[in-house]
Amino acid sequence: MPELQLLRADHADRLLTFETDNRAFFARNVEDRGDDYFTTFAYHHQGVLDAQAEGELRFHVLVADDGEILGRFNLYDMKNGTAELGFRLAEKATGRGVATAAVRELCDRAKGYGLRSLRAGADVENRGSRRVLQRAGFIQTGETSFWRNLYDEFLIGGELRVRRLGFGAMHLSPEDGDVVRRAVDLGVTLIDTAYLYGWGANEELLARTLWPYREELLVTTKVGVAQPGQLDGRPEVLRTQVDAALTRLRMERLDLLQLHRVDPEVPLADQVGTLKDLRDQGKIGHIGLSEVTVEQLVQARGIVEVASVQNRYNLLDPAHEAVLAACEAAGIAFLPWRPILDLVNAPKMKTFEAEFGATRAQIGLAWLLARSPVILPIPGTSKIAHLEENVAAGAIRLTEAQRERLA
Ligand SMILES: NC(=O)c1ccc[n+]([C@@H]2O[C@H](COP(=O)([O-])OP(=O)(O)OC[C@H]3O[C@@H](n4cnc5c(N)ncnc54)[C@H](OP(=O)(O)O)[C@@H]3O)[C@@H](O)[C@H]2O)c1
Repeated sequence: MPELQLLRADHADRLLTFETDNRAFFARNVEDRGDDYFTTFAYHHQGVLDAQAEGELRFHVLVADDGEILGRFNLYDMKNGTAELGFRLAEKATGRGVATAAVRELCDRAKGYGLRSLRAGADVENRGSRRVLQRAGFIQTGETSFWRNLYDEFLIGGELRVRRLGFGAMHLSPEDGDVVRRAVDLGVTLIDTAYLYGWGANEELLARTLWPYREELLVTTKVGVAQPGQLDGRPEVLRTQVDAALTRLRMERLDLLQLHRVDPEVPLADQVGTLKDLRDQGKIGHIGLSEVTVEQLVQARGIVEVASVQNRYNLLDPAHEAVLAACEAAGIAFLPWRPILDLVNAPKMKTFEAEFGATRAQIGLAWLLARSPVILPIPGTSKIAHLEENVAAGAIRLTEAQRERLA
């Protein structure tokens, strides 16, 4: 598979471009045409490397298995969290989904560079580029301009694309199907449940209401609690609970399965190892943990890839700061539970509402979204009015000054 690489000095001799009809040709040893472009090529190349070092742009080349450069995919004019996207592909590499895959990957990297949105242009005539942008999740904002919001989304385990502001289903009673249906209609694509929530009743509610699931929806559940107040991480219990969750949720695979708690009575390696076996059998896609320490996360990652961590965390309760930092460093999704209730109950938060023009719940959610790109809050409610209020927080962008004020 061709690989996207950040431009390096040793790419220079291969990166010779001829552009005709919106297509580019990249070649390893192209004879000097004797025009300005090639005589000044080294100079241009160095200029790009310098600008990259200064953070003004990120210039990527798509390198084939044999080392040939197939295209360029660049982010330029990077400022204020936004960049322009440009791409050109060698003719021989077009028409095989290569460009779409490369643009998607570039978007994920762009988030790593701290960008929150991307703009792109495509000539009206150039249908290929327009198609690539649309397939890669851009929306058309004008005749020739496209836009993609990176701030709102996250790729769990590098694979499961969700909107960062999710929904926790814990508070729903079996009659609350309309609430979760409304959540999905409002664009929520991440819903958190657990066997513990009604001993399977919560999972059944989700399946009854949402099945067949929309393609973009990720319903994630948790296992490892056997009875009220009693953890049970024995391998046979985890296996049984996973099978039961598959049946209740009417799924062939749990795309993300979380261990609700590490059971101190069972070696962590046995618990995580069991989930790894279930993953290898195809019953689980990605593995998440809940209420873990940095040490437990490190130990678990020594056994299997961990895609998510769900710990209690909010503006007034940042006890798990170190775990968040570990997740951020590893690109692991961090799902803070109890994202808003503490704020709703805190009289001192009331003073911010008029100042920010938002409710306490919204301020707490906007703060979490701004706090780290790996944070995926899962606020829960049984009321549609609260749900709508919470989802609307996704559009709030706190300024630096507001964040400092909250800090
Ligand atoms: N991994 C774990 O150990 C763990 C533990 C607990 C929870 N969770 C997950 O995390 C999710 C969220 O955690 P959480 O439910 O404890 O905390 P939360 O989402 O911070 O708070 C939920 C509570 O806040 C109220 N609420 C929601 N929106 C509101 C609003 N806009 N204004 C005023 N009140 C509002 C809800 O009541 P109303 O119904 O009246 O709106 C509910 O009582 C849960 O649903 C569950 O999926 C995980």
